[in-house]
Amino acid sequence: MKKFSFRIYTLLLFFGLSGYLSAQQNIENRIEEVLSKMTLRQKIGQMNQVNARKPDEKLYQQIRNGEVGSILNAEDPVLLNQLQKISVEESKSGIPLIFARDVIHGFKTIFPIPLAQAASFNPKAAETGARIAAVEASENGIRWTFAPMMDISRDPRWGRIAESFGEDTYLSEIMAAAMVKGFQGDDLSNPSSVAACAKHFIGYGAVEGGRDYNISNIPERQLRNIYLPPFEKSVREMGCATVMTSFNSNDGVPPSASKFLLTDVLRGEWKFDGVVVSDWASIGIMVTQGFCENKKDAARKAANAGMEIDMVSACFIDHLEQLVKEGSVSEQTIDHAVRNILRLKYRLGLFENPYTDLESERKIYAPEHLDEAKKAAEESFVLLKNKNNILPLSEQIKTVAIIGPMADAPHDQMGTWCFDGEKEHTQTPLNALKKQFGSKVDFIYEKTLSFSRDKDKSRFAKAIDAAKKSDVVLLFIGEESILSGEAHSLADLNLVGAQSELVAELSKTGKSIVTVVMAGRPLTIGREADLSDAVLYAWHPGTMGGPAIADMLFGKSSPSGKLPVTFPRYVGQIPLYYNHEKIGRPAKKNEVLLNDIPLEAKQSSLGNTSYYLDAGFDVLFDFGYGLSYTTFEYSNLTLSKDNLSKNDVLQVSVALRNTGNREGCEVVQLYTADIAASITPLVKELKDFKRITLKPGEQQIVTFDLPIQKLAFWNIDMEKVVEPGKFDVMVGGNSVDLLKKRFTVN
Ligand code: NOJ
Repeated sequence: MKKFSFRIYTLLLFFGLSGYLSAQQNIENRIEEVLSKMTLRQKIGQMNQVNARKPDEKLYQQIRNGEVGSILNAEDPVLLNQLQKISVEESKSGIPLIFARDVIHGFKTIFPIPLAQAASFNPKAAETGARIAAVEASENGIRWTFAPMMDISRDPRWGRIAESFGEDTYLSEIMAAAMVKGFQGDDLSNPSSVAACAKHFIGYGAVEGGRDYNISNIPERQLRNIYLPPFEKSVREMGCATVMTSFNSNDGVPPSASKFLLTDVLRGEWKFDGVVVSDWASIGIMVTQGFCENKKDAARKAANAGMEIDMVSACFIDHLEQLVKEGSVSEQTIDHAVRNILRLKYRLGLFENPYTDLESERKIYAPEHLDEAKKAAEESFVLLKNKNNILPLSEQIKTVAIIGPMADAPHDQMGTWCFDGEKEHTQTPLNALKKQFGSKVDFIYEKTLSFSRDKDKSRFAKAIDAAKKSDVVLLFIGEESILSGEAHSLADLNLVGAQSELVAELSKTGKSIVTVVMAGRPLTIGREADLSDAVLYAWHPGTMGGPAIADMLFGKSSPSGKLPVTFPRYVGQIPLYYNHEKIGRPAKKNEVLLNDIPLEAKQSSLGNTSYYLDAGFDVLFDFGYGLSYTTFEYSNLTLSKDNLSKNDVLQVSVALRNTGNREGCEVVQLYTADIAASITPLVKELKDFKRITLKPGEQQIVTFDLPIQKLAFWNIDMEKVVEPGKFDVMVGGNSVDLLKKRFTVN
């Protein structure tokens, strides 16, 4: 029986594989056929992406001439079908267009911002969110999204940290891969699939001082060890269809013209057969960057490096033809790019099925989409403080004051990069609290500040009055959505407007304060956390943020999110991230601080270590940190072996017990540390994690399989290897409180 099913399985595999290969071959043959009939101008047209926010006669004519290959920023399905008709029926080559859009964390049903999704440590939820976004966006004819963004972000001043999965390479790798899977589905040619885009390639999250569009200086080894892995996994393992280059220049070279990145790494090492697109005019801006003399020079450098689609700068359409005639860009280079673009169009099924079906049943805001968005929001919330277990609130509580600018801010809770979400569909905490608990609890609402930046304190007295009349204050503060995202870097991460003063004034009433922070990035909220009894970090939670928050505050759900990024106490501590390299003089944490220094102290550096005199030693909240309404105890860390070879798999197990009296979910985190290596190793690195749900008193043995190959890194010889030696493995509920065991790799 066993033999029989094995044979059947092998046969199926064979036919499945050969079917797949022949379909691929078929696509390649069709590409060659189409390519052979195209003029040079038409080929270059495929490499031209235009913005069609307001389509006009000029655009129609360009499409007719075959001078446009893809379009971004149009989303009306009727219009898209019209544009497609011109391309397919009126242009000579008849090649369909691709319609692209930034569908970042939802199309209509908005999910929590990606940074919040990372806090869930739940790739399945990220996949579901991306799938729902794809289903909704593709109903409008959008078949290409510029997501996920997988830039490693160690700097919360950078507004785009909101769009990232935070500071950790492994977490970013896993979350990005899940989103790619969700967007692209099982089959890209399914009309509900959208091509994903791994962006921004590369180093954009490391821009100097967190200033958007700035430069980065990441050496190749660090690039390979820290920044490239999410891209590599998305491209090699997930088949991510496209890659977008970034605005920064790294080590003096803009990625849009980096042969090393686009040809050597992406095509050569990773065998990428998808499409490379520039960021918005990132080819043209190489002139402003001083990397190119003029737009023609920019077109030449970009095309020769391996760039294939010029997003809106028109450098390719205006100059490539001439450059080919002059011989400074070869027609083979153009053909290579066009093959990749046509392949994407075939894979999306656009040649067979170029139009959007306007008659099919619409799924936007479907109840199951809203349910998933609510679940994703719940899993993303991070409980940072819960003095005397004030949370969850009892429904027996009589009067609750709801105060603050974010309690009823339907637009702002959707977060950044949200072109299509509609605030009319957003459910806010105020409405949800009233709807879900209003029959039992009296709520008094005082907005007090009209928006997060509001400095008008004239309504403070009313807020204080409301607080005094209440048993507990629910304070909703944070940032408006527009304060994070692209071009929204901040030099100061304290709360904006008069929000901090509001917290201080309310705390003087002596009432218990539960602070809910809705923001796109870590904020330096140390002072406000001290003045609050509980702090729930809810990020920008999207369409269903309100019901998710209301349920969590009243204990219908329990927090399980963990921080995907370190929270600094002061901006001056940035960059501050848990997985830094080992340093020669780490702080012992008993060193003098600013006010301990005697007057006229003599010059001395002996015994000194790495810390700030004024900021002390600690972060505000550590990577991986987050409380639950219950408590968990870790014990009995066990390794299957303590001597291993490079191809072994180490089994790591730990006993996890729910020691509280509520059910809860814990993100069990596994870190490793290389004790010594050919380059200074990192103090620790996340290598795996699992979400485990336990009932009160329940215990589970949680087991991880750790392939030793996961310890490989780009070493002193710029080779990716596992170096023999000693390693620590650590398991726990955050990046600091960890059980530890040592093992040796031979
Ligand atoms: C610029 C942004 O950097 C990029 O992420 C986005 O996809 C494009 N604009 C298109 O809107």
